[in-house]
Amino acid sequence: MRIVHTLAELRAALAGAPAPAFVPTMGHLHKGHLALVRLARENGGPVAASIFVNRLQFGPNEDFDRYPRDLGRDCELLEGAGCDLVFAPDERELYAEPQTYTVQPPAELAGILEGAFRPGFFTGVCTVVMKLLQCLQPRVVVFGKKDYQQLMVVRGMVRQFALPVEVLAGETLRAEDGLALSSRNGYLSASERAEAPQLAATLREVHRQLAAGARDFVDVEGKAMERLRQRGWAPDYVAVRRRVDLQLPQAGLLDEEPLVVLAAAKLGRTRLIDNLER
Ligand code: PAF
Repeated sequence: MRIVHTLAELRAALAGAPAPAFVPTMGHLHKGHLALVRLARENGGPVAASIFVNRLQFGPNEDFDRYPRDLGRDCELLEGAGCDLVFAPDERELYAEPQTYTVQPPAELAGILEGAFRPGFFTGVCTVVMKLLQCLQPRVVVFGKKDYQQLMVVRGMVRQFALPVEVLAGETLRAEDGLALSSRNGYLSASERAEAPQLAATLREVHRQLAAGARDFVDVEGKAMERLRQRGWAPDYVAVRRRVDLQLPQAGLLDEEPLVVLAAAKLGRTRLIDNLER
């Protein structure tokens, strides 16, 4: 596996080779990322990954500075999963000058849910993903469903800018107790880790209520948030949305429309997100 840090090295490594399947990451990798690498591998051709903690997508009070960085460990894991090329630029390389050209995703998709609680987050994500796609020129790019809204926002960007890349979605990997794997799980104390699967349990409970015929979403969402609050969480949202565009399901079409239930909540200092498709 080759590891390159500069755009010049990256271009040299890509020259003459078939276009790769690409997995963008911010490092601090876990089995969920490695499953995305394997999905990229199954797609045939070389596999490339990037490791870059993207300052643009962090708010001023978020965890940019304490986001764990361990390039050696991440590269070992990537190599074990079958990655061929790692692009790990530093900030001066990727943002050699202030990134004043940005990609602004539409507010109706990117200003809701995560976007409502993390202003500018999806602008930061789209801008770096657009830039990484230009740098790597991949045939396929792989995103996890764990960041469901991110996947939708990126799909929209790829479609509307007619980017010549296919977006593949990898399923969320979970620990045995149901907790979705996430780089931020490492922030949890032992007691928080024991409580953390309750976020997924809350999503399952919302699914159970929908399956049992509940149709008052505001009520279902409110009860789910209250359940989390009573257990010591600070929920940002629990939301029943249609999968196609993350908007509110239309009352009459409820049983036909594929739905997804999404949630974000803080446990202590750690903010976790999760979702479950129906
Ligand atoms: O999902 C992530 O890890 C990041 O948002 C991404 C896609 C690598 C962009 O920085």
